[in-house]
Formats: sequence, C-alpha cells, structure tokens
Amino acid sequence: MIRPMHDSPDAAPSACVPQLPHAPLPAYYGDEEEHQRYLRRIFDDTAGDYDRIERVLALGSGPAYRRAALRRAGLAAGAQVIDVGIGTGLVAREALALIGPGGRLTGVDPSAGMLKQVALQGVQLCAGRAEALPCADGTADFLSMGYALRHLSDVRAAFAEFHRVLRPGGRLLVLEITRPASRIGTALLRGYMRTVVPVIARLAAKQRTTPELWRFYWDTIEACIPPATVIAALEAAGFTQVQRHVELGIFSEYTAVSRS
Ligand SMILES: C[S@@+](CC[C@H](N)C(=O)[O-])C[C@H]1O[C@@H](n2cnc3c(N)ncnc32)[C@H](O)[C@@H]1O
Repeated sequence: MIRPMHDSPDAAPSACVPQLPHAPLPAYYGDEEEHQRYLRRIFDDTAGDYDRIERVLALGSGPAYRRAALRRAGLAAGAQVIDVGIGTGLVAREALALIGPGGRLTGVDPSAGMLKQVALQGVQLCAGRAEALPCADGTADFLSMGYALRHLSDVRAAFAEFHRVLRPGGRLLVLEITRPASRIGTALLRGYMRTVVPVIARLAAKQRTTPELWRFYWDTIEACIPPATVIAALEAAGFTQVQRHVELGIFSEYTAVSRS
C-alpha cells in the first residue's frame, strides 16, 4: 500500500513505505501506477507549450531567477552537474552559463516529449527518474531539481539517490513552489491559479491539454508536503546544512551539502 506522508509531517517515516509528495489526486488518476502514466502523458503532450507558458506566467523572470538561485546554492565554474527533471532545459540553460566550458551537465527526465525540446549544446540527456538515477556514485559536484519534487513517486528514494550520486561535500538545490504561509495568501494564489492562469494557458497554448497541466500544477502545490517535511527528508537522507530560502513567499529553494 502507498501511504501519503503529507498529513503527518511529525510522524517517523517508515523506510519501506514510499514517501509521496502529496496525497493522491483522484480528479486526475486512481492509483500510483496510473499517476505515473498520467505524468508521462501530460508532460509529453504539453512539452511544446511549456517554455511559452512559463515565460508568460513568470513575466520573463524565469531565467534570471533560476540563475540567481543556482548562484545562491553555490554553483561555480567547472562543476559536474546533474539536473533532475530537466524538462525543456530551463534550469540547465542557466547552470551551463555558470559552469562554463570547464563544467559538464547531465540532464535526467522520464518524459521523452520534454527531452526532445531540450536545445542545449554539450548536455548529456538521459531518460530516467529521480528515484533511480542513471548516474554513477559520488561523481557530481552539484545536483539541481527544478519544480519536479511534486511529481516524484517517492521523495525518500529520490533524496537517497541525490546523496548517492553527489561526491562528499557536493551541493544540492531543489526549487519548488510552496503554498504561502498565510491562509489569505493561499486563497489569493488559489484564485489566481484557478481563474487567470487557465485563461492565459488557453490563449497561449497550442496543445489541448496544456490548460489541464496548469490546473494540475496548482492542485499539486496545494496538496504538497510542507517544507518542514522536505527538510526532514533531506536530513534523513544524509544531507547537512539543509536550508530553505524563500523568494516572494512562494518560491522555495532547498539547499544542502552531501555529508563527507
Ligand atoms: C514542471 S517541469 C520542470 C522543468 C524544469 N526543471 C523547469 O525548471 O522548468 C517538471 C519535470 O519533471 C519531470 N518529472 C516527473 N516525474 C519525475 C521523476 N520521478 N523524476 C524526475 N523528473 C520527473 C517531468 O517529466 C517534467 O519534465
């Protein structure tokens, strides 16, 4: 049985039960197998629209924000980077600019449609999932994952993998959108995400399913495990110096260092 951990952040997690990032969402899928099929389909179908919609919704601030977050997390020239959930390459593009010609970047994603959209030179692309990374032990200086935490099937397994592939002292950055701390903030964001965003998505999309992706996007944000649970899971996986930096009340940057 797959048991969501989102309602009991203080409960001691059992090592053999997958740690879901949010409770199941029956409006979109039934069981975890269907969830994985749903994710593959929705990201494959909407990959061609992803960058355009992201640009409109973030008012063009996405690249600068991602680069600043990578810098804050300590990404430096010459680093060997793994970008998990690379999608169309929005985090990877900024990471490449920071690591320069002496660095190397591997991008991992389960969606063939998303991987097809990556138009970056010198990146090694691998089909794969955070929970079972196709990467050797202790080889990466830096691992990033942008806005994919909510789509994992097992947070604990993914963080164990991140710890496995990073060298001792290697750095981690997990970007995620989190619910605002206040009820009123959540209500306002919910209103925006449920009314304005679907209209924008409908106007800017070429794919029929794109507005659904952005509805699903909000529902996963609202249902997601709280930051304290993410931090506890990172510590349990063996990371040290685990921190959360928040921009504009909703953009969470989890950073950590792999234990030597
Ligand atoms: C919202 S996109 C984010 C793309 C990009 N990182 C960005 O910053 O915009 C989420 C990506 O996570 C991928 N994904 C879904 N489940 C995953 C998993 N279990 N492991 C790794 N990536 C996953 C999806 O295929 C999708 O490309």
